[in-house]
Amino acid sequence: MTNVNTALIAQLNNAWPRRATVCDMERFRVEGEFDAKRPDYPVALVPFFEHEGIQRLDEPLKRQILSWGWIGYNRRTVAAEDHVVNPALNYLASEILPDDDWIFTESIRQTLIDEHYHTLMHLNAIQRTRHQRQIDIDMDLPMSITYLELEKLKQQLVEPWEKQLAAVAFATVAEISVNAFLDILADDETIQPQNSSVAKLHNRDEYAHSKMLGEIGKVVFHRLTPKQKAFFVATLPLALRAFVAQDFSMWEAILRQLKVPNAAGIIRDCQQPGKETALTRDYSGLHRLADELGILGELDFNFDGDRASAAGMQRTN
Ligand SMILES: [Fe+2]
Ligand SMILES: [Fe+2]
Repeated sequence: MTNVNTALIAQLNNAWPRRATVCDMERFRVEGEFDAKRPDYPVALVPFFEHEGIQRLDEPLKRQILSWGWIGYNRRTVAAEDHVVNPALNYLASEILPDDDWIFTESIRQTLIDEHYHTLMHLNAIQRTRHQRQIDIDMDLPMSITYLELEKLKQQLVEPWEKQLAAVAFATVAEISVNAFLDILADDETIQPQNSSVAKLHNRDEYAHSKMLGEIGKVVFHRLTPKQKAFFVATLPLALRAFVAQDFSMWEAILRQLKVPNAAGIIRDCQQPGKETALTRDYSGLHRLADELGILGELDFNFDGDRASAAGMQRTN
């Protein structure tokens, strides 16, 4: 494998005990005090918060919307790890990566441990918020469009390897582009320090994962058969688009269940194009990977155009 930077993988593997959040649990437990006055989720990331239908609500109800936005974000993060990233990494570890090359095995197994720890961190964040805000109701919140798109695609596929590789394509996009959204949450100073701390600690691992997957992605691709390569090239654009699709389903469910008047109308108003402001996915790493794999020209995805239209998509995972 000519262009795989094995030195970088080795460096990341060796730094894991010092760098990984799972190796620093004490810090995770103490960092970030609870400040009841601050919202749980950034107002700036809620596309409809300035809508008059929301502004006229009383303060406690507005706060509940933000608390449930935070809970929903955490639930979706856990679902993405459990149903997309971890199954794909397991498949790579057990069936694709060469078991005679320890460096790749070590790297992917470290990453799997990180991802499992992330689910614990985010589940813990939900419990903490429910306790601190004394939330005793439950809510039925829909799965993300990204997850639903992957499931829909898998149902249309026949061969087990196709389903597995489809998950690898979605996991690759997730792992190499999620930093942008975590950055926004991690740097937000308006929300509870505890909550931005969760994003900060998660992101510390994801910076390493995106570099690691950028290299391991090449190892994996080179090991695929021509038929599998063609399938991966055809599937990657579906994953890229699924991650930047507009997805207000969670917010609509929250408004409806909190009995906010005209919930559907408020959401509809915000779905009009050009109303959003923040870029929440960074596809530069995927662009680089596709370029290094020599498949950039074959991908049915316009990184500049689609990325521009992705600007402002309010994403929760
Ligand atoms: Fe993660
Ligand atoms: Fe990750």
